[in-house]
Amino acid sequence: QPQWGLPLKTAQDIYRDLQSSLGDVLPDAELFIKAEIAAEVLRLKVERDAVILGHNYMEPALFHTVPDFQGDSLELSRRAAETDKSVIVFCGVRFMAETAKILNPTKTVLLPTEKGGCSLAESITAADVRALREAYPGVPIVTYINTYADVKAECDICCTSSNAAAVVESLKSDTVIFLPDEFLARNVARETGRHVIVPSVLRKGTLAAGGDDTTVEHTMIAWKGRCEVHELFTPADIDVVRKQYPDVMILAHPECSPEVTAKADFSGSTTAMIRAVEKSKAKRFLLLTECSMGDNIVAANPGKEMLRLCSHRCPHMHEITLEQTRDSLKFMRWEIDVPEHIRVRALRAVERMLAVGPKID
Ligand code: 13P
Ligand code: SF4
Repeated sequence: QPQWGLPLKTAQDIYRDLQSSLGDVLPDAELFIKAEIAAEVLRLKVERDAVILGHNYMEPALFHTVPDFQGDSLELSRRAAETDKSVIVFCGVRFMAETAKILNPTKTVLLPTEKGGCSLAESITAADVRALREAYPGVPIVTYINTYADVKAECDICCTSSNAAAVVESLKSDTVIFLPDEFLARNVARETGRHVIVPSVLRKGTLAAGGDDTTVEHTMIAWKGRCEVHELFTPADIDVVRKQYPDVMILAHPECSPEVTAKADFSGSTTAMIRAVEKSKAKRFLLLTECSMGDNIVAANPGKEMLRLCSHRCPHMHEITLEQTRDSLKFMRWEIDVPEHIRVRALRAVERMLAVGPKID
């Protein structure tokens, strides 16, 4: 929660808090160092008049100490839209920080890493979207928030994993283009009773509909983007884990394949998964998503046991550490810039999404 006006926590206070929440995850020697850095971040945050937004995937020592707000992409976009601070430090990847800048052109938005990529954001260009619009004139285009500003600028509305079905349904259109995550498109299509086609770009401005056509009612035209982390989970992983732990509750992010989400007990955004674990009476859980989130959940829910498939990790989210966050505030780096002619067009798509909901509690 925000700490404005309250005395700042000392490194010792933070160390004690970390010990009670992360004592089973990180050794004391590490907690000492992290507590010192977190205290420095809190001091710099006040000096710079900054708000820190922390995505659910952040490393536990960062996630549990410095963010004013934690959450999934939608929650953090809403927080970014509401802040009155002059600086926003986005502890997440570049497309998230760009969304904060789209919403706050006069504020300084900092990303604590120079890169902070995402395989989905890199899977599609603005020219690809223009080619799709030419090939399917009049069909509304939904873009997942995991895209860069120039792609959002070409689309009609954004969505995140927590409101994708609601956004698609809000369009009241039989045919919808949904970019760029093919798996999320297939998961949303199942939820909204749609048929999916994945066209491929043959040459500039020409697309092949892969043998299918859009005359079928309730069609979703998808793209070939994949999350490099979530695409690695397989239905066989679920079978093997269930065989060993028959009582396990399995939760999968909707960037996983539809075969995986169909076998899981629950599928939803990162925050939806956290809430589902908190609400569940099960004792043992497996999250098919970035591994840090399991550590963050265990720290907040000591009675719950988390199984881990940690060989698949998001290298981009892992570029952001407590140390990088401190340096971001210290050196005011790396500043996000979105050209104004792109920003104003991207803003329409982001604002349309925010109007659809859901709101945060
Ligand atoms: P959420 O919006 O569910 O937090 O997902 C963001 C993301 O990049 C998941 O890989
Ligand atoms: Fe992108 Fe996948 Fe990493 Fe999320 S987990 S930021 S979708 S690469």
